[in-house]
Amino acid sequence: MIHEMFQLKGRVAVVSGAAQGMGQASALALANAGASLVLVDRNLEGAEATAEQARTTGVRTICSNTDVSDPDSIRELFALVDREFGRVDFLGNIAGDGVLSSPEKLAIEDLQRVLQNLVIGRFCMCQEAGRRMIAQGRGSIMNIGSLASTTALGRGHIAYSMAMGSVVQMTRELSTEWACRGVRVNAVLPAQVLNPSLEARIAADPTLESRFLKGIPAGRLGQPRDIMGLAVLLASDASEWITGALIPMDGGNLAMNAGGTPGHESQLVQSFRAETGKN
Ligand SMILES: NC(=O)c1ccc[n+]([C@@H]2O[C@H](COP(=O)([O-])OP(=O)(O)OC[C@H]3O[C@@H](n4cnc5c(N)ncnc54)[C@H](O)[C@@H]3O)[C@@H](O)[C@H]2O)c1
Repeated sequence: MIHEMFQLKGRVAVVSGAAQGMGQASALALANAGASLVLVDRNLEGAEATAEQARTTGVRTICSNTDVSDPDSIRELFALVDREFGRVDFLGNIAGDGVLSSPEKLAIEDLQRVLQNLVIGRFCMCQEAGRRMIAQGRGSIMNIGSLASTTALGRGHIAYSMAMGSVVQMTRELSTEWACRGVRVNAVLPAQVLNPSLEARIAADPTLESRFLKGIPAGRLGQPRDIMGLAVLLASDASEWITGALIPMDGGNLAMNAGGTPGHESQLVQSFRAETGKN
């Protein structure tokens, strides 16, 4: 039973990255609150599986395998939304990935790919959704950033950090430009949330999980379900006066200024010393 304030019946939500993780969890939470869904993921089979679950709540749900790095495909996606629903009330701008490399070894092509995905792609999704929301006089966008949006991680995430820093500035600019037109734009900044690639990294490095946990006062890593309440809140009228907010979803990490991985600086220094023999 959803409180009236959080009711999303009659609303249309576009959610990217909906095949798994936080995109899937957001989609299912929005469906439970009554929103119709357009689920976007390059993994169409995964998006269809999420759609099957969403439909059990009775909401209308369609899927698209749009690559959110590609502006032409994004424009086609929103043409589909126009044809099928004729409106968009909420955008969960969630899909995206980075590349791991030290700054001195990062290939410029890899940097361009990450910026294309997380900066140009996220912006184009906001622009297409925003144009429609402005015309409607109402709408809400949730951009997913990261701890890396506001702090340095110091562990090979230079391309991702540069892109996620842009995501928060984009959120601030769009929220300022669009607030008087009824369109809200907020960003959620997660700490480490378990997903298949993080699980693989934890399996490969037995010290990783405990290092991450040192920076999380809540004492556990995030789960995709941790975004469910935020997605419904930001999509609903309950957050009508919240825009331009950067919302940590991190078990307390940013509050203790841990920047993702406390103690990692000394590891960087240790490996520098081991490489160079310098003290
Ligand atoms: N998991 C974390 O620890 C964490 C922390 C901070 C920020 N984030 C960010 O949150 C977002 C979601 O993370 P997650 O852990 O739920 O991810 P995930 O890896 O579990 O799922 C990402 C989904 O997005 C889809 N996707 C990726 N690139 C796409 C593209 N170009 N076009 C269409 N679909 C694409 C994938 O197929 C996948 O289904 C990402 O942008 C990620 O960078 C994640």
